[in-house]
Amino acid sequence: MPPDMSDSIHIVVLPGDGIGPEVTDSARQVMEAAGRRYDVTFDWDEHVFGGVAIDHSGHPFPEETRKACLSAHAILLGAIGGPKWDAVDAEMRPEAGLLALRSVLDAYANLRPVKVSNTLAHLSVLPPDRVAGTDLLVVRELTGGIYFGEPRRYTKDEAFDTMRYSTGEIDRIARIAFEQARARRGRVTSVDKANVLASSRLWRECVSAVHAESYSDVELDHMYVDNAAMQVVRDPRAFDVVLTANLFGDILSDLASTLAGSLGVLPSASLGGVTPLFEPVHGSAPDLSGRGEANPVAAILSGAMLLEDVGHADSADLIRRAVDDTLSAGSMTCDLSEQGVSTSEFTDHVCDVIAHIPISPTII
Ligand code: IPM
Ligand code: MN
Repeated sequence: MPPDMSDSIHIVVLPGDGIGPEVTDSARQVMEAAGRRYDVTFDWDEHVFGGVAIDHSGHPFPEETRKACLSAHAILLGAIGGPKWDAVDAEMRPEAGLLALRSVLDAYANLRPVKVSNTLAHLSVLPPDRVAGTDLLVVRELTGGIYFGEPRRYTKDEAFDTMRYSTGEIDRIARIAFEQARARRGRVTSVDKANVLASSRLWRECVSAVHAESYSDVELDHMYVDNAAMQVVRDPRAFDVVLTANLFGDILSDLASTLAGSLGVLPSASLGGVTPLFEPVHGSAPDLSGRGEANPVAAILSGAMLLEDVGHADSADLIRRAVDDTLSAGSMTCDLSEQGVSTSEFTDHVCDVIAHIPISPTII
């Protein structure tokens, strides 16, 4: 349930594994700094999740963590997984905990914005003049499709998964994409594989029906996923909202992240369910962990998405401006610059900008 504007925001923090604890810690500091400017207070509630939870209680998503997640205003997640748990049985791996969390929450709408600022455009794998100004949003269906479809089986000589979608599942994610497009540049590209897959044929029909019935003011086109992968690289600025199924969204969002120069700057929100969930798109980066070198931007911007979702758009904007200003001033972690600063130096810099940036007084 969302908080009242005057309530403390009750946030369950799941730091997870690898660099997860470092980047969620930065996000918390930055959110506190923004909260101080706008009288927003937080009630942080940390729980084990992922690999650390396996070590702690033998399960990646323990019951007490589940209970806490279901009753919070929002969840801030770091990252999970690492080689330490690679040999664990499939259903007990950290990744299985993440899928269970998304499913238990029914957080079906995964929003992954990819915005390429002029400051970072030169880090992209593409020429800066082709990516600068890219501003697209991947809307990925998160609780259905081949990730969850039954039946599925694994034996020594044969294995299969099922890509399955109902019209109800497609309808609700399509509406989210159209609503997002209305608040942006008014375009949705629905990505599928309708030339081959039955589930994609239903996807295309259903998206078109929702469009015709309720969103004819939004421009809609359909694209096959193989072509979409090419077009996103060829002309990223042509995209506004990319609506797609769970597996295609997983792949396309990593692909789109290369435009931004580093996975370390991309946030995400998983909405529509019992409790909204916010997490960086990047993984746990075990090789970076504990060195103070992790890029906290994705986690910080996930915190901004959280604040916006619970009704504090002004605090969210302040955080985004402070991150932009900090990066433009040349303060960035070593994934972005050879003279990189540490995670904590970067975080302090962002907090400092937040503390001093002029803001217009809130009109009550
Ligand atoms: C992501 C990740 C997850 C996914 C993994 C860790 C289960 O890659 O959030 O994109 O495939 O959804
Ligand atoms: Mn992924």
